[in-house]
Amino acid sequence: MGDIRYDDRVAVITGAGGGLGRSYALYLAARGAKIVVNDLGGSTDGQGNDSRAADAVVAQIRDLGGVAVANYDSVATAQGGERIIQTAIDTFGTVDIVINNAGILRDASLVKMSAESFDALIDVHLKGAFYVTQPAFRVMKEKGYGRVVYTASGAGLFGNFGQANYAAAKMGLVGLSSVTAIEGAKYNIKSNVITPIARTRLTEGVMGATGEMFAPEYIAPMVAYLVSESCEYTHEIFNVGAGRYSRIFVASAPGWNAPAGATPSVEDIRDQLSIITSTASYKIPANAVDA
Ligand code: NAI
Repeated sequence: MGDIRYDDRVAVITGAGGGLGRSYALYLAARGAKIVVNDLGGSTDGQGNDSRAADAVVAQIRDLGGVAVANYDSVATAQGGERIIQTAIDTFGTVDIVINNAGILRDASLVKMSAESFDALIDVHLKGAFYVTQPAFRVMKEKGYGRVVYTASGAGLFGNFGQANYAAAKMGLVGLSSVTAIEGAKYNIKSNVITPIARTRLTEGVMGATGEMFAPEYIAPMVAYLVSESCEYTHEIFNVGAGRYSRIFVASAPGWNAPAGATPSVEDIRDQLSIITSTASYKIPANAVDA
């Protein structure tokens, strides 16, 4: 099998002015993709904006002989999402790849979390991914080709103290990706989720000395595979970090069936809980009907 390349492919990467997004931009550009480097350039909690973050990555790609253009719109509005995809169309004529990566943090325990902080996280992570993917999906559907990656998090799938807003947004992205995959299937649009763990400005405070193990460069090859033409996977979730690559899945266990024609009582439920909660066997449903 030959090398995987992205020649003539146009990739939109949100939040690519730093951290993981920047490493994806450099990786794909080095293999021939034309990149829209989107970044608002604000702080980790979403305040302010600065065009220098995206500009610096574009300059670095061009210095290495690659092709890239900057975009400074926020993903968190529908107009911003439209403009990000329009930048790809105006500059490079199309969009083949969307990597939804932009993100912020505003941690607080459930009782202390403000409605504003909750909304801000939903706006950037969840609505932002929708606002960018929807206009791209229209183009992809028309051309019969597309690759979409959404960035969730272990905190979203498994929970983490102080991250109600982040976890809710990240789990929402799993649903968004499932529907992108199902609706995209007949147009060769593949959609997958990653749950990364890496040392970036978002995590440097908590990782400390272990940080070196978590170089962002471990994440880029997995994302690069998922947005390649050779990717055969869709509707999947991949856990990626520190050199480990594994699958996460949402599964359904067979459970307990109440006797035909009888409505069980609350005591019946209590008495059958060991069977109801058993994961001795399970199935990964293809969609809600299958489930
Ligand atoms: P980062 O802070 O280095 O990168 C995020 C980028 O998104 C920043 O450059 C920021 O300016 C940009 N951004 C923020 N709001 C934006 C908006 N409204 N519009 C456009 N750009 C915006 O952090 P990192 O770690 O690279 O995060 C990338 C993604 O990975 C995020 O979605 C994060 O939640 C996710 N993630 C990261 C993990 C880690 O261990 N670093 C763990 C799990 C998930």
